[in-house]
This record gives sequence, structure tokens and C-alpha cells, in this order.
Amino acid sequence: MPHADAQSNVSTNGRTIRCRGERFRVYLDRDTIQRRVDELGAQISREYEGQCPILIGVLNGAFMFTADLMRAIDIDCEVDFLKLSSYGAEKVSSGRVHQLKKIDADLDDRHVIVVEDIIDTGLSMEFILDRIQKEYRPASVRVATLLHKHEATQVELPMDYVGFRIDNLFVIGYGLDYGQIARNLADIYILDEE
Ligand code: PRP
Repeated sequence: MPHADAQSNVSTNGRTIRCRGERFRVYLDRDTIQRRVDELGAQISREYEGQCPILIGVLNGAFMFTADLMRAIDIDCEVDFLKLSSYGAEKVSSGRVHQLKKIDADLDDRHVIVVEDIIDTGLSMEFILDRIQKEYRPASVRVATLLHKHEATQVELPMDYVGFRIDNLFVIGYGLDYGQIARNLADIYILDEE
């Protein structure tokens, strides 16, 4: 249903939306996302049978993917979060990573799956993996990311569970923001001119 709220910076009209004055169109719709998340959850369930993995969601962007992925896993598993920031309010990654919230759980001897909404330059994930290996003795560490901007990635990373490999596009929705808004959108959008 078309929606325009004078209080909101996001207005929707069918398959396109306006966000912060720019037009975006659907790139990955909610059903496509959910099908892929269900596949990844089934794969993780098979591969970690009997191991009770702990998902580490990277706030803020990965909160939605982490929740849906966890629902798609049908073996025992746990969840915790850390918080990083690298984009600021811009459309491109700043390349500077700050840790804003630490992991509370003890990851010693645990099977860890770091869960990201997107790997762009890869610097955030490199930072996280380095921290986990320095601060704990995990039994194993794997990486799950919903999106991988493969052309933008500057570092070698293990990527065990990838939802979608995407071109170098600015994406919003399903946890991904544009200046902190648009995370609540169920579909993933790109700028309409791209
Ligand atoms: C985004 C995203 C990843 C990171 C990926 O987070 O959620 O954590 O950037 O970029 P990179 O591969 O270039 O390091 P952001 O810093 O925008 O914070 P947010 O999760 O709160 O949106």
C-alpha cells in the first residue's frame, strides 16, 4: 500500500521508495531473502549438529539477518552481539573500524559463527576475526554474511555462508541503513539510477 508520512524520511510507492530525498528500487525482495536465509539455516543445522554454535551478530546492521537466520536453524544454538561502526552517515565505507560494544559471552572452546549483514571492504570482518582470535580460544570460527560486495573487498577472508554476492551498489533495507533510517524495510533496495 502506498505510504507517505510527513514525519518520516522513507515513503513507499509500490516497488520504489524515497529515502532522504533519493529514489530507491527493490533489488532483493523479501521472499528471495527469506528463501536464501532458510537455506543457510538448514546448511548450518546440518553442519553443526550436536555442537551448539554461538552466533555473534554484528550490530547494528545484522540484527535482522541474525534473528531470521537463528529462526531458520533447528539445532541448539546461542546468540550474542558486538557493535562496530565504519560507515558513519556516508554511502561508502570509511575504512575506519571502531568497536562500540564488546561480546559478553565467553567464546573459549565454542563454535563461533560471526553474522554480518554485508561485507564490503572486509575491514570490519578482518577486525572482528582478529579480536576473537586474540581474546579467546574458540573451537572454530566461521563467517556468515547476507551480502558480499565482492568487487569492493580488500582483504582475504573466510566466507563460509554467503547469502548473495552483489555488485558494488549502495544497498538499504533489511537492517541496512542510510543515515540510520531504512533498516526496518523488509526488502533490500538500491538507488534507482544504478
Ligand atoms: C556496515 C555493515 C558491516 C560493515 C561492512 O556497518 O553492517 O558491519 O559496515 O563494511 P566493511 O566490510 O567495509 O568493513 P556500519 O559501520 O555501517 O554500521 P551499522 O552496522 O550500524 O550500520
